[in-house]
Amino acid sequence: MNKMSFIKIIENDLKSIINEVGYELDDVVLSISNRPDLGDYQINDAMKLAKIYHTNPMEIANKIVTKLKEDKRFVNVNIAGSGFINLSFSNDFLVECMNKMIEDIYNNIDLQKSKTIVMDYGGANVAKALHVGHLRSANIGEALKRLANVLGVKTYADAHLGDWGRPIGLVMLELKKRHPDLPYFDPNFQGEYPVNSPINNDDLMEIYPYASSKANEDIEYMEEARAMTASFQNNDRGLMALWHHIMNVSKADIKRIYDRLNTTFEIWNGESDAAKYIPELIDILEKQKLVKLSEGAKIVELKTENDDHEIPPLLLVKSNGTASYQTTDLACILERVQNFNPDEIWYLTDARQALHFEQVFRAARLAHIVNDEIKLEFIPFGTVNGADGKPFKTRDGGVMTLEALLDLARDECKKKILPNISGQERMDIAEMVGVGAIKYADLIPYRTTDYIFDIAKFSDLEGKTAPYLLYSTIRMRSLLNKADLEKYPNNIIKTINNEYDRDIMINLMNLASVLTKAYDARSLNEIADYLYELTSSYNKFYAEYHILTETNEDLKTSWLALTNLVLTTNLKLLNILGINCPNKM
Ligand code: ARG
Repeated sequence: MNKMSFIKIIENDLKSIINEVGYELDDVVLSISNRPDLGDYQINDAMKLAKIYHTNPMEIANKIVTKLKEDKRFVNVNIAGSGFINLSFSNDFLVECMNKMIEDIYNNIDLQKSKTIVMDYGGANVAKALHVGHLRSANIGEALKRLANVLGVKTYADAHLGDWGRPIGLVMLELKKRHPDLPYFDPNFQGEYPVNSPINNDDLMEIYPYASSKANEDIEYMEEARAMTASFQNNDRGLMALWHHIMNVSKADIKRIYDRLNTTFEIWNGESDAAKYIPELIDILEKQKLVKLSEGAKIVELKTENDDHEIPPLLLVKSNGTASYQTTDLACILERVQNFNPDEIWYLTDARQALHFEQVFRAARLAHIVNDEIKLEFIPFGTVNGADGKPFKTRDGGVMTLEALLDLARDECKKKILPNISGQERMDIAEMVGVGAIKYADLIPYRTTDYIFDIAKFSDLEGKTAPYLLYSTIRMRSLLNKADLEKYPNNIIKTINNEYDRDIMINLMNLASVLTKAYDARSLNEIADYLYELTSSYNKFYAEYHILTETNEDLKTSWLALTNLVLTTNLKLLNILGINCPNKM
């Protein structure tokens, strides 16, 4: 059976009520009131119906309201203006809903249609350090995956490593210059290549930046690097053996950083895996006569008459025989369709890659590499900027590695932790809070909005920050630990006492719509904001009422159960955002 949220159930009932009074509307919406003084929720559909049926909205609203007044779930049903219906939920109904959420908070969600999505949000490049540019794809992608899973969608996250391009050619070239005697570079070598890698990750971190800047200054060196890249891409035996070493060394380090970021992939494929599909791809394109020659390169024209902006051709094979970034992504679609039979493929990168994906998707459609039912979706995001509004850099203007960024957050958050927590425990908690601070700050702006990296602000214990949320959540847990729960074994809400506990419940009623909105917008800002609202409504209640010393047993039972429900909701939502909550801080 399909799960349905409390609000959706009511909306369906409203549809029937509208039918009973003689009208029809497919989409009835119960929306959160922007006039809480008039009611918790409002229905604006009488106006819509009046337009369709050419009658007076007031008349329609009156008929609907008469029915709603008979329904025990609602109180305070009234009409404002020329036909806006307001209503509030009865306390009994709220309590009933809360107890269903206590059984499982996800009793209050709306599942998506069942489907499979391949998600591409890794994109780390082998032989290079992960940098701040990879932060948002990891954070947003991982959270969207977790959200999709909660909503019943099957996902395969693919790390899609950049493991087949020039960075590796550059490293190989520089290695050859420094150690020309290594067997990998000897075309006549017939034996077994060494089992151990000739370089470790620290070597890579030194060699790649060196080789990269040298290539930028020295055309000859760049040409050699291009030739080296083409050789390993053509499966030169020695270079492939070296490629495997570089892969293993670099992948382990990439995994370590993604682990720190609570970012997980089910599939650790890379551009090299997609490259295996390139011959098949070119064959498909050539059979359909889509390939043209242009200055020694093979291209695919993508322009159509209706374009409102320039769509350059797709560069299929460069004049030196190597495949382009576009070709690899196109081949990767073939790979994914064959391996996972997805309904959708989602790509998360910086907005600056928009044209790239437009070209790739267009070529895929043109060549019928995917059937029309498969959705290809580019999900762009804004950049992480420094105080100067430009992409975030280190103090001396270099690229900030993700590792350095995470260390910075950990060290800042370490200052905020209780003084009596020490040693390794202090480090571990600081790490958890630091990662949380970075993630929350990254997820709270709307996805396409750029934001300024300000670690002091992100790690503040007040305001819309992870430390505030984590601190508050820990406090809920310790309150429950202090309460004599053996005396209050019933995790059940019996009553509503005041506007503060009621307000928390109204917030909880809205969980489903928050999750759906976030999913539809492919943006976690809805959830990040909601966590703050829910937590703040709890904290207001907490400041006003003393739960542990309450003498009315029903009240105390109810409040403990409500505390537990908010705690559970917070932990589940933090988990969707990829944020872990320590036991103390
Ligand atoms: N490796 C690329 C980069 O660092 C990102 C890859 C994104 N995914 C894709 N399928 N193109 O810029």
